[in-house]
Amino acid sequence: MTDIRVLDDEADYRAAHALFRGTLHHPPAPDDRWKVALESYLPGRVLASFDGGEMVGTVQSFPSALALPGGEVVRMGAVSRVGVRADRTRRGVLSGLQSAQLRGLRELGDVAATLRASEAVIYGRFGYGAATRGRTLRLDRRRAAPRSRVRGDVRLVGLEEGERIIRTLFERVSPGRPGTIARWDAWWSMNVRHSGEEALRIVVRSGPGGDDGYVAYKVDPGSGGLLDERSSVLTVLDLWAVTPEAWADLWRFLVGVDLVSEISAPLRPLDEPVGWLLADPRACKVVAEDDETWLRLLDVPQALARRGYRAAEPVVLGVRDRYLPDNEGAYLVAPDGATRTDREPDLVLDVDVLAAAFLGDVPFRALAATGRLEVVDPAAVARADALFAVDQSPWSGTYF
Ligand SMILES: CC(C)(COP(=O)(O)OP(=O)(O)OC[C@H]1O[C@@H](n2cnc3c(N)ncnc32)[C@H](O)[C@@H]1OP(=O)(O)O)[C@@H](O)C(=O)NCCC(=O)NCCS
Repeated sequence: MTDIRVLDDEADYRAAHALFRGTLHHPPAPDDRWKVALESYLPGRVLASFDGGEMVGTVQSFPSALALPGGEVVRMGAVSRVGVRADRTRRGVLSGLQSAQLRGLRELGDVAATLRASEAVIYGRFGYGAATRGRTLRLDRRRAAPRSRVRGDVRLVGLEEGERIIRTLFERVSPGRPGTIARWDAWWSMNVRHSGEEALRIVVRSGPGGDDGYVAYKVDPGSGGLLDERSSVLTVLDLWAVTPEAWADLWRFLVGVDLVSEISAPLRPLDEPVGWLLADPRACKVVAEDDETWLRLLDVPQALARRGYRAAEPVVLGVRDRYLPDNEGAYLVAPDGATRTDREPDLVLDVDVLAAAFLGDVPFRALAATGRLEVVDPAAVARADALFAVDQSPWSGTYF
């Protein structure tokens, strides 16, 4: 008999951490890493499933927020460390945990939940849809001469000062793009202060108005030694800028770092125009495009009401939600907002499909063409696309 409990003491947190790491085939964290990870275990946010008194699965969440098209930011639970012990998989353990977690997050007042999925086939059934994507860029550094020189000031800063500056800059910039999320204290601690990356470097750019962008990166010198730059790879970990000028300078700086053969920039926004900065745009290749944010709308009426829409004729969406049936029903979506309605739907869709379209990433026409929507009124597909259109590609930029 399995039962689900909310964990609240350090011994259970550590057991959950070890269980999760085991599902990813890693050993338990040693004491020093556990001390850092412990900060990310927050009361009320860690669930575990027990079978005969033994912990067999776990899920948790971090308190965050999500930027919506139109500029509003809503409460969001960032779901992470999902794992079921290998000897107890495919018996409904995750389903039980998901069900408890989704209801719990909604009771906490979160409008949405997001996660990063290890496999694309797991979370659709729980109402999560792939709602943002990122692409991986690879630059041949020796070919990648910038068309012009760095114009502002760029400076390398130490970790402690750097964390302070980049947190402030991140909080200023990130909500400007739909899909970005708020980072919690333990995120900064685990990814910057105690990242364990000795090679982590932070560069801050400033212009006439002060600091306006940063990049965090690392260089793996490869196996060839200092005199052989053939295999040295610079990886861009985090890059945000207030202005296009700051953004361009940060990339110009990166392609000028010596003794680097290749620059790898994983999961960057789809609309980042790095090739246009270079004399030879082919020096920058897109080598992968992957799903990034998996979005679960927990409170559909609120999520739809707080999103912004473009000018277009209204559409009525009929939403199905097996796990959170309060969300079910018809919603009239118009340029001035969205409300529940008694009208018959023009398009009927599951909540995971709505999530895929919600931030503006997947057009309704793609969902209709692939049979993911029930199209009652064919003209409504183009109306929905016009209403949900966005200026910038939705992107989170935060891995957790
Ligand atoms: C992914 C994981 C948590 C699933 O746990 P689980 O307890 O086996 O899931 P459930 O038994 O509740 O499965 C529910 C449904 O999802 C399906 N499913 C679950 N994991 C799946 C997977 N990896 N691939 C395909 N289908 C999967 C099940 O077959 C089941 O389908 P059904 O409802 O049609 O019967 C578990 O396999 C695991 O820990 N994997 C390794 C770690 C990992 O990938 N974690 C996720 C990090 S984002």
